[in-house]
Amino acid sequence: MRPTIIAGNWKMFKDAHETSAFIASFTKALTFELKNVKVVVCPPFTSLAVAQPLLAGTPVALGAQNMSPEDEGAFTGEIAPKMLKSVGCTYVIIGHSERRQYFGETNDGVNRKVRKALASGLLPIACVGETLEEREKGVTDSVVSTQVKALFKDVPEQDATRVVIAYEPVWAIGTGKTATPEQAQAVHAMIRGLVTSLYSSETAGRIVIQYGGSVKPENAVELLGQPDIDGALVGGACLKVESFIPIIRAGIAP
Ligand code: 13P
Repeated sequence: MRPTIIAGNWKMFKDAHETSAFIASFTKALTFELKNVKVVVCPPFTSLAVAQPLLAGTPVALGAQNMSPEDEGAFTGEIAPKMLKSVGCTYVIIGHSERRQYFGETNDGVNRKVRKALASGLLPIACVGETLEEREKGVTDSVVSTQVKALFKDVPEQDATRVVIAYEPVWAIGTGKTATPEQAQAVHAMIRGLVTSLYSSETAGRIVIQYGGSVKPENAVELLGQPDIDGALVGGACLKVESFIPIIRAGIAP
């Protein structure tokens, strides 16, 4: 059975002090058995080394929000995969729509980063999703398929199941507009079908596909109850213990 992965993308929120306070109360509130659920927090780079010791001995994994596709070198302002590993990261978010939209990330660049993350022993959470304009034009499936095909380019089958795909419709991010469970399920099923054609039904059956975009305690149970939705990539609601904990609980199968 595929695990359910609930990840919190903190985006550009919480400084080092706020990180310590949050992680302390968050881990204290995680008193229940997680069963098949994996929990990941992805703070800003400056908080990773703060979070690492606080998460040691807890079931919560650490992730970063971006990564350089280079190993090291004269790349001012960039962070290498090895640096992320040295502060305890297991996961790294790649190609978030905010990075595609504001920082010029392309499908090719996302593929380079996915391959570098895999080669470096990090688990990429690779983001895909259509804009409102694309949805209204009826090109959601073709846009998302292009992104999914691109991110898996030259990724061998044995590595493919280490990739987590996050389907995040851009129009649902930070807007309070969630895709309906049916809309999300339809795209997730399409993505899984595509992974079957790229690799095999066995690989497609093992790959985790998260939904992201205004996930909240109020809609998490229904979204996570869909057959092809295997987790959530949570923005705003992961910043407060009171809203992140119920989303994690929603991922625990009864
Ligand atoms: P919100 O949950 O704030 O809509 O953000 C979703 C997201 O972008 C997670 O990566």
